[in-house]
Amino acid sequence: MEQGFLSTREALQRPDGERVRLRGWVYRRRDLGGKIFIVLRDSEGIIQCVIEGSSRAAPEASKATIESSVMVEGIVRSDPRAPGGKEVRVEDFKVVGLAEDFPIKGGESVDYLLDVRHLWLRSRRLTQVMRIRATVLEALREYFTRNGWWEVSPPILTQSAVEGGATLFSVDFFGRKAYLSQSAQFYLEVMIFSLERVWSLTPSFRAERSRTRRHLYEYWHLEAEAAWMDMHDMMKVVEGLVKYAVKSVLEKRLEELSALGRRTEPLEATLKATFPEVTYDEAIERLKRKGFNIKWGDDIGADEERALTEDEEVPFFLTMFPKHLKSFYMKLHDQRPELVLGFDLEAPEGYGEVVGGSQREDRYDVLLQRIKENNLNPEDYQWYLDLRRYGSVPHSGFGLGVDRLVMWIAGLDHIRDSIPFPRLRERIYP
Ligand code: 4AD
Ligand code: MG
Repeated sequence: MEQGFLSTREALQRPDGERVRLRGWVYRRRDLGGKIFIVLRDSEGIIQCVIEGSSRAAPEASKATIESSVMVEGIVRSDPRAPGGKEVRVEDFKVVGLAEDFPIKGGESVDYLLDVRHLWLRSRRLTQVMRIRATVLEALREYFTRNGWWEVSPPILTQSAVEGGATLFSVDFFGRKAYLSQSAQFYLEVMIFSLERVWSLTPSFRAERSRTRRHLYEYWHLEAEAAWMDMHDMMKVVEGLVKYAVKSVLEKRLEELSALGRRTEPLEATLKATFPEVTYDEAIERLKRKGFNIKWGDDIGADEERALTEDEEVPFFLTMFPKHLKSFYMKLHDQRPELVLGFDLEAPEGYGEVVGGSQREDRYDVLLQRIKENNLNPEDYQWYLDLRRYGSVPHSGFGLGVDRLVMWIAGLDHIRDSIPFPRLRERIYP
């Protein structure tokens, strides 16, 4: 049994009577009426294997414990009682790696399952999510490649805060203080002066103070930046990108979505929609109508975002924020200097922000002023200011939280399950 193995998915498509070889792990096992029923799992799915008690394969099969890795050879037969409508009547069976008593049996607490994440990742549910995640990543990359953007590789170790000092993780860099990147944005802004349209996919780090269902301390950040684009040009890019990812998942991962119990109507509606723009002013009015005690100038936090998005089926943009709520690099609004040209993409169904972006302040004097207003040291931003001294150009960009996008598309209720090894508060094992 060395060559010519089929996946469980392929085996389920073979006609009755065909001989197949499979390999995988024992997902379930039941001994009944002189037979051993083993449900075999591989990366593609599951298939039932039946071993007659009197057969040559029985002594070896009877050793196979849950999660043992095994190889089987047998004949495909239709059986309406089997998952997928077919089973394999086994003639040859080999245990490759015998599993000790598997510590996950069902009904364990969330905390325990996070302790044994390295084993829990074998669950069908997480396997389905990871397949969806891989398809999202593939689609995001494909979108940029097909539309003429350049992928660049910014650093992770940096000296500058992009999104404020409060959430920085610091590292000792040979006696100097350095930080783990919160965002590649400033480096992408450098790269537009040569490549014009650039993007990157990197881990970003945030020492968030609040613990929520949508915050990770380390997350995957997809960022893009382009010369000559204003805020609305860039919002069109975000819309195209998000729709492209949703479309790919609907085309390729429908089985996984349905196994997860994900309603696909919002995803289908998203493909047909033009994402609306809701200004901050309008959002405050909507929140007041919903009974929030909120006034112009207040932050729109997680609770407010949930209220704004829970009755929506498709994503929308939240735009034109008061400048004191946003980072110093966002360009000031021409007619209303109390606002900045920022935009967030809000995912529907209560999910909230998945993208944050803006047009960038491209005037040297104004940017310097904004840095000072924010009590930041201009010296720390010398190279960033330089970009406004040598051929400054109107430009815009955004950052998309990949884990949050996966969370929404897959319909997960916590971000931890969108990523294999979530970095949560006080948890860095495994
Ligand atoms: O809105 P943010 O902070 O924007 C920036 O970092 C910009 N400098 C990006 C840019 O314009 N290049 O972060 C962007 C996105 C958020 O919309 C969210 O989806 C995600 O990153 N994000 C997180 N995802 C998971 N866990 C966290 N702690 C996150 N913080 C931000
Ligand atoms: Mg944001």
